[in-house]
Amino acid sequence: MIPRTHRQFQLAARPEGYPKDSDFRMVESPVPEPRPGEFLVRIVYLSLDPYMRGRMSDARSYVPPVALGDVMEGGTVGEVVRSSHPGFAVGDIVEGRLGWQEYAVSSGKGVRKVDASVAPISTALGVLGMPGLTAYFGLLEVGQPKAGETVVVSAASGAVGGLVGQIAKLKGCRAVGLAGSDAKVRYITEELGYDAGINYRTTDDLDAALSGACPTGIDVYFDNVGGRITEAVSRHVNMFARFAICGLISQYNLTELELAPRNERFVLVNRVRIQGFLVFDFAARYKEGLAELTEWVQDGRVRYREDIVDGLERAPGALLDLLQGRNFGKMLVRVGPDPARSETSRSTSR
Ligand SMILES: NC(=O)c1ccc[n+]([C@@H]2O[C@H](COP(=O)([O-])OP(=O)(O)OC[C@H]3O[C@@H](n4cnc5c(N)ncnc54)[C@H](OP(=O)(O)O)[C@@H]3O)[C@@H](O)[C@H]2O)c1
Repeated sequence: MIPRTHRQFQLAARPEGYPKDSDFRMVESPVPEPRPGEFLVRIVYLSLDPYMRGRMSDARSYVPPVALGDVMEGGTVGEVVRSSHPGFAVGDIVEGRLGWQEYAVSSGKGVRKVDASVAPISTALGVLGMPGLTAYFGLLEVGQPKAGETVVVSAASGAVGGLVGQIAKLKGCRAVGLAGSDAKVRYITEELGYDAGINYRTTDDLDAALSGACPTGIDVYFDNVGGRITEAVSRHVNMFARFAICGLISQYNLTELELAPRNERFVLVNRVRIQGFLVFDFAARYKEGLAELTEWVQDGRVRYREDIVDGLERAPGALLDLLQGRNFGKMLVRVGPDPARSETSRSTSR
């Protein structure tokens, strides 16, 4: 039964510092009717991602922000429930950026079908979706790791970081991760195969911890956080090290940015290459990346963890959890029942 109305979250205000509940407004709207060439999707999972903080702000970025009063942007997986589109049938599972809402109409642009027999459909937002592709191309193409090298990853237990260390291991590297709790450090070393982990929140001497974990120095740094962690890493680099700048989450909610890393001398003396990237730089190669990631997930060479909250109404709080490091794995909101979820799912729900 398709209801007549559904819930949506609009952006109500641009946050100062960390977002708060009043920056979002939940509204009840009519469920839209698909026109010829369109289909209606019941959203099952909404992905929460750090980039959303940037979309809430009107600071200049690589894409325009969400306008005040518009539905919050977000990646989703859902089920087609009505279709007037020749390429999409009722029952198809699809992934696309359909936003923080329970139903959405799509023309199919930017939407892909998800094969529910390959893996849980939620993975299309994680290990087999945008974060997975970010880890894959960011490490392999930007970081260019070689067997025997040391790869350091920040936010190492997260959606992107959890995968980066595992790919580094598959390529014969030493993988060292930084994470914000002892449980996360245990997870990356005991379950994901990282060689060493550092709890950057509790260590009193990050330099000593990095020296201990990286006895031959650092060749590749996959940076998810920026700021002081990046500055500490810069003091341990080897000649011709590569920094793949993926994200700067430690800076996203600051009202005044940290001036770190402060010492460019490490770049000059060690001929370091620092390169930022956005996952869609590799859009032409997504198929190739997804094919290999799917193989690795299916044969168990790559593991992943999801952190699922139930109910669209919890999305603002869960976004804040993500931005403050209270997520443990890929942060998702289950907006409605998952038609394909098996009882043996490896995800944690809360
Ligand atoms: N370039 C691209 O195309 C692209 C695509 C996707 C994601 N990203 C970036 O990749 C990074 C990771 O994204 P994700 O989706 O995988 O998120 P995630 O790692 O699953 O979750 C974010 C994690 O960031 C860490 N964190 C939060 N505040 C921090 C702080 N002040 N200092 C250090 N760490 C902090 C927390 O882990 P701890 O508890 O370990 O601190 C938190 O769990 C983000 O920076 C994101 O913007 C970039």
